[in-house]
Amino acid sequence: GTMAELSGIKIKEKQLADLLHLDHCSIVAADLDQQPKVLETMGRLLNEILQQNLPQGEAVIAAMGGTTMAAVANQLTPALSEKRQLTFVPARGGLGEAVDIQANSVCAQMALNTNGTHRVLYIPEHVSARVYQPLLEEPVVKEVLTLVDKSVGVVHSIGVALQMAERRDMPADTIQMLKRKHAVGEAFGYFFDKQGRIVYKIPQIGLQLEKLKKTPCIVAIAGGAKKADAIKAYAQLAPHQTWLITDEGAANLILKGV
Ligand code: BG6
Repeated sequence: GTMAELSGIKIKEKQLADLLHLDHCSIVAADLDQQPKVLETMGRLLNEILQQNLPQGEAVIAAMGGTTMAAVANQLTPALSEKRQLTFVPARGGLGEAVDIQANSVCAQMALNTNGTHRVLYIPEHVSARVYQPLLEEPVVKEVLTLVDKSVGVVHSIGVALQMAERRDMPADTIQMLKRKHAVGEAFGYFFDKQGRIVYKIPQIGLQLEKLKKTPCIVAIAGGAKKADAIKAYAQLAPHQTWLITDEGAANLILKGV
């Protein structure tokens, strides 16, 4: 775009960051709900932000799943590995996602595109509590959880609460409860309302919010007008260092305060 358009976006990014109490926001000038190509631009921004903010040497990145993450993973480049040995690990196990958008698949794709390595979290997406507990004792599972604990970077998206609950086949009574408690958004398996209060948490292993707070490089990628409420709500929970990559579809609604 022209210089005026560019600085217009910069001003909006600053306004959005101030409003959401985040250190940085990047806004792509379009609405993802109308133009799926926005995801490519978001992915390139993610690549730049990681390039600027990840430490050199060994760096473990914990990644989440979802359609946004699966798309942006394709834009990472080998340049990220020039001064680093990257390891991608799933941040949390078993949220109930389909295989192509599971965190395991996102990590494999990120490793492939950056010449990095990745680990798989061998926790099935749907498993009973009885089977789940002994799995936690498995060395291959423990090893990945140790890596998650050591991660210097976290990359994730933010979902619309009820959409995520349905996509993950959560039980009808849990979905009822989420409605009753006015859940609007979801991230990392945590469901929250407009005020950013956690109303439900999928009891799964891996990254917890306490660890997230201490993670130096966090990038949240979420766009489209439909996600405006979820993003605004999550910002109240998010550590201030979270770098939000969004689009005008969401940003304009958030800035309007609707
Ligand atoms: C993931 C988050 O990265 O993205 C989830 O960890 C979130 O918690 C999901 O709900 C959103 O998925 P999508 O398909 O909207 O990108």
